[in-house]
Amino acid sequence: MEFINRPYAPLDGFRAANLINVDDFPEAETNYVLDLAEYYARFLNAGQRPPARLAGKTQINLFFEDSTRTNLSFELAGRRLGADVLNVPVAASSVNKGETLVDTAQTLAAMGAHALIVRHKEPRVHDEIARRISCPVINAGDGVREHPTQALLDAATIRSVYGSVKGLVIAICGDIKHSRVAASNAALLTRLGAEVRFVGPSHLMPTPHLFTKARRFDSLAAGISGADIVMALRMQFERMEEGGKDAAKGYFETFGLTHETIKAAKPTAKVMHPGPMNRGVEIDGALADDPDRSLILKQVFYGVATRMAVLDALITKGSAF
Ligand code: CP
Repeated sequence: MEFINRPYAPLDGFRAANLINVDDFPEAETNYVLDLAEYYARFLNAGQRPPARLAGKTQINLFFEDSTRTNLSFELAGRRLGADVLNVPVAASSVNKGETLVDTAQTLAAMGAHALIVRHKEPRVHDEIARRISCPVINAGDGVREHPTQALLDAATIRSVYGSVKGLVIAICGDIKHSRVAASNAALLTRLGAEVRFVGPSHLMPTPHLFTKARRFDSLAAGISGADIVMALRMQFERMEEGGKDAAKGYFETFGLTHETIKAAKPTAKVMHPGPMNRGVEIDGALADDPDRSLILKQVFYGVATRMAVLDALITKGSAF
């Protein structure tokens, strides 16, 4: 496995201090992290241990919202690189005694954290934490605003299949209005040269002044016509106003992704979903499970490799192996 042992080229001066928004990583930093994710993916694919780049470092995960993929893949990513990884048991922590989130974050930093991974529904709380502590802050999802590591892992997944994001047509379908995944992906995939489209009913679209580069479609067939990738999103009921459950009524019949409906996309089109998915609501189970069409489990795989790359880059500042 000679290629795995080859040291990865360092980036001279990785400039980003935190990852709160996808745009915190400019072009060179984004490309460095995507290349590094591919490098780590080779180790994971081969079942080999990567170099313990983060031995002696401490990563602390602080999740105030439910998570399976993001929390566990950050934990695995840190462990794969040799870091000590702690998960704050939020339900049993001093947050419940009135401590502010910033005080909690400062306490964790004073314990010696080298990176703090935070999921919290309040937008901008990550910025406040980053101003008050000196170690990198990584946004693991903040309400409807951003989920930058999801966008990076989606880009890494797409690159692993197509070689590049540039020139692809990517249709994001469903509850875009409440989706931080759509927000981060629209910004990143457009910057990487894709044509990003939003597809869904008008009540699930963001306000018109947001994401002006993404063309909007209220017809599934028109929106995915010629698409290389069709990305489904779940209904984010937890972020909807009272009565939001009605948003799903008749949705599958009009916008649900099935083997039949994706015939409007390119014959080679792949389906993606950030998870968690609701089978029979936004996507048919048979399509989600079809290994020839679905990249959903590949996204999960690249979640670990990409988060390894993000942790490595922010903690070591792109230093040589
Ligand atoms: N995609 C995603 O953020 O999944 P989790 O909510 O399970 O972390």
